[in-house]
Amino acid sequence: MQRLKGKSAIVTGSSKGIGAAIAKAFALEGADVLINYNKSQAKALKLVNTLSNDSQVKGKISSYRADVSNIRQSKALVARALREFGKIDILVNNAGILLSKEFPETKEKDFDQTMNVNLKSAFFLCQAVAPFMLKQKHGKIINISSVSALAQRSGLTYVDYVSSKAGMIGLTRSLAVNLGPYINVNAICPGTIETDIISWMPKQIKNTMAKESLLNRLGKPEDIANTSVFLASDESSFITGEIITVAGGRGMR
Ligand SMILES: NC(=O)c1ccc[n+]([C@@H]2O[C@H](COP(=O)([O-])OP(=O)(O)OC[C@H]3O[C@@H](n4cnc5c(N)ncnc54)[C@H](OP(=O)(O)O)[C@@H]3O)[C@@H](O)[C@H]2O)c1
Repeated sequence: MQRLKGKSAIVTGSSKGIGAAIAKAFALEGADVLINYNKSQAKALKLVNTLSNDSQVKGKISSYRADVSNIRQSKALVARALREFGKIDILVNNAGILLSKEFPETKEKDFDQTMNVNLKSAFFLCQAVAPFMLKQKHGKIINISSVSALAQRSGLTYVDYVSSKAGMIGLTRSLAVNLGPYINVNAICPGTIETDIISWMPKQIKNTMAKESLLNRLGKPEDIANTSVFLASDESSFITGEIITVAGGRGMR
C-alpha cells in the first residue's frame, strides 16, 4: 500500500542529494510532489521526467524554481503548490548550504547567506503553509537539521552552519507547540551523508566519520528519505516536536 497516497508535498532543495531522494520516495509512496530548486534546473527537470515516466508513480510531479532564502519566492512556491495540487499536506524544509568557512574568516555576508538559506527559509515557508494546514486540520512539517547541531565530532567546525542547524531545532520544537494539535512538526538530524555538500571533504575525514558510526559507513540520501516518509505518513501521527537523529549511531562511543 502506498503510504502517502492522496497527499501533496513540497520538498525544498530537491534537485539533488537528500532532497531528491525524499522527492523520489514520496512519489513512489503515491504523493503529488513539487520539486524545488534554485540553481540546478537541469537536474530538477531530469528528476521530474524520470519520476513522471515511472509506472509506479501515480501522483503529479512538477518542479518550481525558487530561491527559498527570498520570502517572496518562497510564497510563490507555496502558491504554485496550491495551484497544482489544491492543497499542501507535507512541507520538507531541506534546502541548505555549507559555505565551509572557518570561524575567523566568516564575514557578515557569509553568515547572513547561511542563515537565510538554512533557517530563514524554513521559518517563512512554515509561516506560509501553516494557515492552509490549520484550515484543513492536518499537516506534516519536516525540518532537515544536522547532527552537527547536537554534538561535535571530527570535521565539521563551521560555526555559521552549525548555528543555523541548531536554529532548526528550536524552530521545530517551538512550532510544534504553536501548531498543535493539527500540524506535526519534526526535525531529522542526518549524520554525514554522501552528497555534493560534502564533496570538498578529504577521503581521510570521510573514513574517520564512517568509523565513528556504529554501522561503519556514511549515510545515503535514501536513509534520510526513508525516515522522511515515516514522518510524513499517518504512521507517525503521535510524533511531534521530536528531533530524530539518523546517523548510524555516530557519537555514541
Ligand atoms: N550531506 C550531509 O552530510 C548532510 C548532513 C546533515 C544535514 N544535511 C542537510 O541536508 C540538506 C540537503 O543537503 P544535501 O546533502 O542533499 O546537499 P546538496 O546535494 O548540496 O543539495 C542541496 C540542495 O539545496 C538546494 N538549495 C541550496 N540553496 C537553495 C536556495 N537558496 N533555494 C532553493 N534550494 C536551494 C540545492 O538546489 P540547487 O542546486 O538547485 O540550488 C540542492 O537541491 C541540507 O539542508 C544540509 O544542510 C546534509
